[in-house]
Amino acid sequence: MFETAGPESLAIAKLWWILLAVSLGVFFVVVISVLGGLMRSRDRENNPDMEQTLGQSLAWATAFTVVTLVATLVITYEFSKPQVNREKADVVIEVTGRMWWWEVRYLDEFGNELFATANEIVIPIDQNILFKLRSKDVIHSFWVPSLGGKIDMIPGHENELWLRADKIGEYRGQCAEFCGVQHAKMSLLVFAVSDSEYKKWSTNQIAPAKVVPTFAQGLEVFKASGCLDCHSIRPELALRDAGPDLTHFATRKTLAAVSAPNNTGHLAGWIADPQSMKPGNLMPATLLSPEDFKALLLFLRSLK
Ligand code: CUA
Repeated sequence: MFETAGPESLAIAKLWWILLAVSLGVFFVVVISVLGGLMRSRDRENNPDMEQTLGQSLAWATAFTVVTLVATLVITYEFSKPQVNREKADVVIEVTGRMWWWEVRYLDEFGNELFATANEIVIPIDQNILFKLRSKDVIHSFWVPSLGGKIDMIPGHENELWLRADKIGEYRGQCAEFCGVQHAKMSLLVFAVSDSEYKKWSTNQIAPAKVVPTFAQGLEVFKASGCLDCHSIRPELALRDAGPDLTHFATRKTLAAVSAPNNTGHLAGWIADPQSMKPGNLMPATLLSPEDFKALLLFLRSLK
């Protein structure tokens, strides 16, 4: 949260430092007052004005407390004002919290889906990004500390979060509300890129899967072995959206909500035994012949 990459997180970081200074100030005033009180109480018997001193001390303490609290309230209110212009969103992204991954859908200006992906979000820098946050099961919380504050994802309710990145970079996010045994393995990555890079990426994501003829056998395995029950590879749409969209799966850097790097070795381990990598997740192990397994791996790794 101190490595800020946008106006929202910058405001939070500044507020954090100010509140730290205020807290340290309060701490030292209290320590000095207590020490002063202890010193003075020794000559209690020789001090005829004890009543008056007590009254003054109470007045000072009350005034100090009220001024500090009111100042803190005003400062916090100032810093909690929106830092991103909320009139027009340049990019609208719907993110749905799932146990334990992030379903990501990019929407057009009418709210229709352009394409779906998972766990990795690409945004253009210096543009206003509107996140529409939902949940399909329990309460999750969307938090990318370098870009802004966190906000809960609540079943049956849509929350909005406006963010802007002003530095190109890769920013890690984390589910910030305990949501079950794999809560710790519910991470996401946000890539803030240049406008041209974003256009290139989104144009590729909108397109249906490019099935390379050499690896086409893997698509048949994908359909025959039940993967298509939960995962879409556009234009092949899943019967239900229980798992991440895999249309451009090989463009993603990680697997299973940033649990492992997306390479052939980890992918093989994940497909063969997803429960050992992330116990309790919805994906069952897939039993395949060695030939089919290899064809499936090569096919998934080719989905650029
Ligand atoms: Cu989702 Cu914690």
